[in-house]
Amino acid sequence: MELKITRLDNSTQHVEAPDHFGTVMGDHMFVMHYKDGIGWHDAEIKPYENLSLSPAAQILHYGQAIFEGMKAYENNGEIQLFRPNENFERLNRSAKRIAMPTVDVDFMVDALKQLVDIDRAFVPTEEGQALYIRPFMIATEPQVGLDVSHEYQMIIITSPVKSYFRGGLKPIDIYVEQQYVRAVRGGTGFAKVAGNYAGSLIGQQKAADKGCSQAMWLDGVERKYIEEVGSMNIFFKIDGKIITPKLNGSVLPGITRKSVIEILQKQGYTVEERPISIDEVIEAHEKGTLEEIFGTGTAVVIASVGKLVFEDDKEIIVNDKQTGELTQDIYDTLTGIQFGDINDERCHHWIEKI
Ligand code: COI
Repeated sequence: MELKITRLDNSTQHVEAPDHFGTVMGDHMFVMHYKDGIGWHDAEIKPYENLSLSPAAQILHYGQAIFEGMKAYENNGEIQLFRPNENFERLNRSAKRIAMPTVDVDFMVDALKQLVDIDRAFVPTEEGQALYIRPFMIATEPQVGLDVSHEYQMIIITSPVKSYFRGGLKPIDIYVEQQYVRAVRGGTGFAKVAGNYAGSLIGQQKAADKGCSQAMWLDGVERKYIEEVGSMNIFFKIDGKIITPKLNGSVLPGITRKSVIEILQKQGYTVEERPISIDEVIEAHEKGTLEEIFGTGTAVVIASVGKLVFEDDKEIIVNDKQTGELTQDIYDTLTGIQFGDINDERCHHWIEKI
């Protein structure tokens, strides 16, 4: 398919990333349309603008929407993407789960590279900052009857960002949500479906009320096993062992999660992917063997966790509220690869230059 490109006459020359994550957008966007019987068509990079949708568009009523999160990093004038194919492959798995059409991964990666190239001025050059990339697909057919849409739009927008949490790398506090659940097996938890995040916002609100940055979700059946946290997967270091909840169908298969496991394994660590209960974490804390907790995600990168807070205000302090050695090391290695300070060519082949 041909990709039409329409550039803004006066493109921005340089943009500072704002303090608030994801609030400034790049000058251009990618849009592609789908209709049953025709397939994907009219792919275009054009100046960023509002969408025009029918008030009856399916997305507005039944939430048929999926998304991805990626970043572009600057290194000495070069821009690089981190495992972009993985994101579009996951987008396709999400699409299948909620009956949306899949996209051509190679075409999308190529279109994304052209979009980022056109908006190079939006890729921050300051340390630790990046251009956040948000691909998403929405159902656009005007129809309020509950049925699979026959029309869609695939869109990519971009946004220069600093760190996700206001305090940067400072350890964050997490609220353990024991009333509501985020996802159940057989549901959409493994897919990056917009509705998963809508359902999680009450947890985010409760977390904020307790002075925490994000909510930790427990399993949907017993409310016992840890699944994931707000916008990230979660890792524990207990008695020298690294443990992360297993991908059981209701946990999001994070690309950062997968990369961290691969980095740790290459460094000789064993990572246990298995069910881990909140009681196991409490017990480890009581025994003094809970060493570190950290979260992983594209937006958050690696987030050190300093405290768990429960509904009854019980608290667990982790590593004296200091970033642990393993957390710091994995942060340095991952960001070293993403920003090009560590040469990835001989080990992982995760980087694609633009
Ligand atoms: C990401 O980490 O890119 C995400 O998509 C999480 C989002 C909820 C901020």
